[in-house]
Amino acid sequence: MERELEYLSEREAASECPAGNERRATPRDLPLSRERITIDEKGVWHIHGYDEARQILRSELVKQAGFMAERVLHDEGSLLKNPPILYLEGDEHHRMRRETNRFFTATVTDRQYRDFMDAFSDELVERLKQQRRAALDDLTMEMAVRVAAQIVGLTDSLLPGLKGRLSGILDMATQLSDDAPKILNLILSQKALLLFLLLDVKPSIRVRRKQPRNDVISYLIGRGYSDIEILTECVVYGVAGMATTREFIAVALWHLLERPHLRQRMLEGEQQERYAILHEILRLEPVVGHLLRRTTQDIEIDSHGRTVTIPAGTLVDLNIYAANADPAMAGENALSVCPMRPLHSELGKVPEPVLSFGDGYHRCPGAFVAIQESDILLRKLLAIETLRIEREPDIRFSDVVKGYELRNFRIVVDEPAGRPA
Ligand code: HEM
Repeated sequence: MERELEYLSEREAASECPAGNERRATPRDLPLSRERITIDEKGVWHIHGYDEARQILRSELVKQAGFMAERVLHDEGSLLKNPPILYLEGDEHHRMRRETNRFFTATVTDRQYRDFMDAFSDELVERLKQQRRAALDDLTMEMAVRVAAQIVGLTDSLLPGLKGRLSGILDMATQLSDDAPKILNLILSQKALLLFLLLDVKPSIRVRRKQPRNDVISYLIGRGYSDIEILTECVVYGVAGMATTREFIAVALWHLLERPHLRQRMLEGEQQERYAILHEILRLEPVVGHLLRRTTQDIEIDSHGRTVTIPAGTLVDLNIYAANADPAMAGENALSVCPMRPLHSELGKVPEPVLSFGDGYHRCPGAFVAIQESDILLRKLLAIETLRIEREPDIRFSDVVKGYELRNFRIVVDEPAGRPA
């Protein structure tokens, strides 16, 4: 029953899909270009159409150019005999994805991590109820770090405080600017990273050298990765898996608290319906707003019946905000939250989050994990009837992730009516 969501009658759907900009966190790129492809004065190609972006992401003739890949591999490639998964390409990358897929499938995510996610979000929500106030961005970071740490295998720290150590590193890593000198050296010179290495990464490696477990670090040890390479991979998982999920849960709560109807459906609906709501919010608020690729040969793509050739060596900027809201794919009012909207493409079925988890070879392996943990934590938060936003967040932009970061986002639990807060 494809996209057949019982809860929205046509009338309700219409009222949930008003025309106009319903975004919260991503106004920076507005208004969106309606041209499918543009080329700027530096020769960078900007892709705004969904079909065009998807063809590029699925091509073998492009390589990763985002997340500072080109700078790091050029400047410090010699330090990394085994680059992290995000920077790998070709056979080595396919092998890594194949062999690590077992940590991320929908079944594994459900069977292996659901109880943990449930128990940990209970803990977070209980603490919020007792303290009555929280920085939402802190709370979502705690959840995202603890969940990804299970999958990566960062579970044997010598001291508590993994979240604090990682927050420092990720804040610095995601706020690096394009012209920062010697990026990896800069990251490695940070005291926070040294502490992370000594207190979290090395102890976890030690435990797993004696007794491998079913996690990423054990896998990397088996592949002969050095401690520094494992550290780098952990930072990549931090940026790709923790920082992203943290932002998404916060932006989703923001949307859901403002839409009582969707809040109610998140509390009462079946999983398929709830995931459709979350995917729709993610479509509209992609945490990674641009993906970058470099063409390795001339590549030909079809742009609505016209063949276009992108020359070898071109930097291609895939604008995910625009591609996700391409009216040819998402219909009119593509900037509204509308969980059951039909999605069309000549290339076949369009996934609900559209390109927010990427597509092709580098597509996010953590998509099931991210949606499952978001669903679990959000439902527990939304079940607090008197939960409200005390302070809307400051919105800043990360040049590394190419997306929004919500900070100083405060929520409060009021006393039930009759008692003063
Ligand atoms: C809402 C949360 C998340 C979002 C929006 C997100 C988004 C993305 C996107 C767009 C990519 C593709 C990058 C590219 O093509 O250049 C990606 C890759 C990746 N993500 Fe996620 N992600 C999320 C959560 C997670 C989680 C929870 C994990 C792991 C625990 C994870 C691990 C990774 C890894 C390892 C890659 C690199 C894959 C590769 O290069 O082959 N992500 N993510």
